[in-house]
Amino acid sequence: MAAARQKNFEDACSTMQVPLKGVFFTSIGSQEIMLARDSAGDIVAFSGFCTHSMGKLEGGRVEGNEITCPHHGARFDIRTGKAKNACPNLPRFEVKIDGRRVLVRPS
Ligand code: FES
Repeated sequence: MAAARQKNFEDACSTMQVPLKGVFFTSIGSQEIMLARDSAGDIVAFSGFCTHSMGKLEGGRVEGNEITCPHHGARFDIRTGKAKNACPNLPRFEVKIDGRRVLVRPS
């Protein structure tokens, strides 16, 4: 893990904390992180700040592969970060798995 940290990857959570369906939120410094799984089951990480007006997505309703922002209702695909409306897509962060730990490189 030390080598990964040297490349600006930070420990985000355990792989067990990221559900097969749904999302897990954490933070690295001031960056909110939303973790989920893509269609292959691999863990993916996105900004946990909504691209509409930077509200936290945490607490948003998740239905199927979609999360609805709790602030004004923007919707995003949790597998890809793609916006379902006119908002920009969620910024995606690089992920590495180190044993049972999920490492994320927030930008
Ligand atoms: S902050 Fe998310 S919809 Fe407005």
